Amino acid sequence: MDLDLGGRHAVVTGASRGIGRAIALALADQGVHVAFNYLRNRRAAEETLRALEARGVTALAQRANIADPEAVRAFFAAVRERFGTLELLVHNAASGVERTALDFTLHHFHWTLDINAWGFLSAVQEAAPMLAPGSSVVAISSLGAVRSLPYYTLVGASKAAIESMARHLATELGPRGIRVNVLSAGAVDTDALKHFPNREELMATTLARTPLGRMLEPEDVAQAVLFLASDLSRMVTGATLFVDGGYHAVG
Ligand SMILES: NC(=O)c1ccc[n+]([C@@H]2O[C@H](COP(=O)([O-])OP(=O)(O)OC[C@H]3O[C@@H](n4cnc5c(N)ncnc54)[C@H](OP(=O)(O)O)[C@@H]3O)[C@@H](O)[C@H]2O)c1
Repeated sequence: MDLDLGGRHAVVTGASRGIGRAIALALADQGVHVAFNYLRNRRAAEETLRALEARGVTALAQRANIADPEAVRAFFAAVRERFGTLELLVHNAASGVERTALDFTLHHFHWTLDINAWGFLSAVQEAAPMLAPGSSVVAISSLGAVRSLPYYTLVGASKAAIESMARHLATELGPRGIRVNVLSAGAVDTDALKHFPNREELMATTLARTPLGRMLEPEDVAQAVLFLASDLSRMVTGATLFVDGGYHAVG
């Protein structure tokens, strides 16, 4: 299906690996020019950059900690110089510390909330002057925003913050023709899951409780981003789209 995304310009935060990389590649497959940032993994970022360029689009990769205002400003300045305009922002970058709630420190709180939640708002603030009417902003969240999951207190809190900010941003940016939505993804077996002490149990439970009967792949998330990026969703804003094979609906 032609989603008519060709020639548009996107920023995907944290696209060197995992779900962000799948989103960036799916966009490039539609002819979207893609800029992305990353934190540490230069080799993976270079590999993603090459994969984007091989698809014939203009691509930009820059190391920029999304929690660092100076780095974010410099990244979006580079995007402005390369693209001039922006029609899509996907805030995918995330990090976190997996502990039981009583074991967290203020440092853990800042690390997680600064990257995941402030990173979203600051990316939108930097992108906003470039976003034309018809543009779309997508924030990647998870069920931990609204449910209790083991070791997930701070990441869950950061995702709840993202979801709330997305609703407020949808209200503020709607009159400019900019849509803001949340994509709440189910568990995907990326590097992120390796940090969970209960990874095996989490995977088994997820599979058992997923009505569609298989684990989610990064590409499943990426395809749904294409929908939220395209004019097929032109009257969808302030919404949360669950992409998890139905896991969220199981009581
Ligand atoms: N995996 C899951 O089960 C799952 C489920 C629901 C929602 N999600 C959400 O989906 C998104 C992607 O998750 P994932 O599993 O693909 O994660 P991942 O494999 O850990 O990849 C994270 C990506 O974000 C980048 N990143 C991390 N911190 C950053 C920072 N401070 N500044 C800039 N970039 C940063 C990483 O860059 P480097 O390569 O340089 O480290 C990497 O490209 C996250 O928002 C996550 O919460 C994941």
